[in-house]
Amino acid sequence: MKRFWVAPSILSADPLNLAAELDRISAADAVHVDIMDNHFVPNLTWGLPTVEALARSQKLPLDVHLMISDQDRLAPAYAEAGSESVTVHFEACQDPVKVAREIRRLGARPAIALKPATPVSVLDQILTEFDMVLVMTVEPGFGGQSFMPEMLAKVRQIRSRLARENLDIRLQVDGGVKADNIALAAEAGADFFVAGSAVFGSDSPGLEISRLREAARA
Ligand code: DX5
Ligand code: ZN
Repeated sequence: MKRFWVAPSILSADPLNLAAELDRISAADAVHVDIMDNHFVPNLTWGLPTVEALARSQKLPLDVHLMISDQDRLAPAYAEAGSESVTVHFEACQDPVKVAREIRRLGARPAIALKPATPVSVLDQILTEFDMVLVMTVEPGFGGQSFMPEMLAKVRQIRSRLARENLDIRLQVDGGVKADNIALAAEAGADFFVAGSAVFGSDSPGLEISRLREAARA
């Protein structure tokens, strides 16, 4: 059976109780960490010391999503900090291939994200350098926004290329993913789902993670 991954975004967790919040999501496949700089996106979150502390203090793989400017210069340090995967935005890289190779050399999996207005065609020459593609299903910057169903066409387009070329690359969606739309994203070809408010807004985050996985399979 196809394996679906669910990664809660700690953007929606209680920042004063992160350790306890992480205990509540031990059933997840990874922890999604949104790094924002108030420049590439109009919001500010964490930086390297937090990623290093997360890598030291808990067992789940860290799926680090960079929403910062100048990623060519800044992304490699996030690979060194102990991330399992480092997702760079196509729009914030001068040389995505070079940064992907550097991330891989430093021991993490490189992934590439596309903002809603960025077409899939930008991946034409560079896709195979990455282990995962992230199709943003909201404008990056904030949790709790509504899923953009028109992004599913991009998911379908990428999935069909992956199938055609038999590429083992994960396809992630991030933004507004809930139990009532996750099946649509899975049907379009996504196999890795980020969910912030759906998981941390629930009284029972562990149950919500199972619910999302079940709904993706439906
Ligand atoms: C948005 C972030 C997302 C966000 C998702 O820029 O990349 O990871 O936390 O939160 P929800 O699931 O609430 O849309
Ligand atoms: Zn994210």
